[in-house]
Amino acid sequence: MEYVHGYSNREALRLADQADTLTGILHSGTAYPSGSRVLEAGCGVGAQTIALAKNSPEAEITSIDISRESLSHAESLIRSEGISNVNFKQADIINLPFPENSFDHVFVCFVLEHLQNPEVALQSLKRVLKRGGSITVIEGDHGSCYFHPETEEAVRVWGCLVQSQRDYNGNPMIGRELHPLLNDSGFRNVEISPKIVYVDSNRPELVDGFIKKTIIAMVEGVKDQAIEKGMINIKTWNPGNRGSLQNS
Ligand SMILES: C[S@@+](CC[C@H](N)C(=O)[O-])C[C@H]1O[C@@H](n2cnc3c(N)ncnc32)[C@H](O)[C@@H]1O
Repeated sequence: MEYVHGYSNREALRLADQADTLTGILHSGTAYPSGSRVLEAGCGVGAQTIALAKNSPEAEITSIDISRESLSHAESLIRSEGISNVNFKQADIINLPFPENSFDHVFVCFVLEHLQNPEVALQSLKRVLKRGGSITVIEGDHGSCYFHPETEEAVRVWGCLVQSQRDYNGNPMIGRELHPLLNDSGFRNVEISPKIVYVDSNRPELVDGFIKKTIIAMVEGVKDQAIEKGMINIKTWNPGNRGSLQNS
């Protein structure tokens, strides 16, 4: 499958940095009881799988992804950590190879925003979730990113990321739609808890882990395609990144 961030080594590193930096925020509610069966859908290179498995060492975790290459990366990472409660399987979220009512919990992180039809994906996940089970869905919203100074170049560079994701049929603003999306897909008792990441120079770990290694790396990942498609020229791109969205 083709999607905006692609499957490069640089992207694998970015996903790992993103997960490391945000573990406290993303995994505050992901400890599952002993013996529970957990499905992680769209595990990528295993960046969130580590936190899931460490938070719930007695749970049985099944992590799926459509990309065989990402799965093999994830599997080596998990084995190198000595974690043994995770099984990996190549599968498409839309067509899951599990019977109905197979899992107590489903975990999805930064995946629905890349799918053309997230509602169909959620219905598919609901089919394999046991009655009374729970789902955790974590997605971004690129329309809620503010920075200072808000230079024209930085705003245009950010716009290239948003447009590139749309060009791949993704939805970069899906965060704000999760409540209706989950309800319309048949889930009940939906609770949304917005998480904010605030960074300034007094938070050097976040400047490094979030701004440079997660956000700038994500923006840099669409640079070539944005320039190639004529969304922006190199002259505007460079001052934009040197301005508010700094990468040095
Ligand atoms: C941005 S990555 C997120 C990976 C991981 N959840 C994380 O937070 O680090 C999105 C992942 O979703 C996977 N994916 C996209 N469409 C999928 C589908 N239909 N079925 C299964 N996985 C899919 C991609 O292969 C990619 O690994």
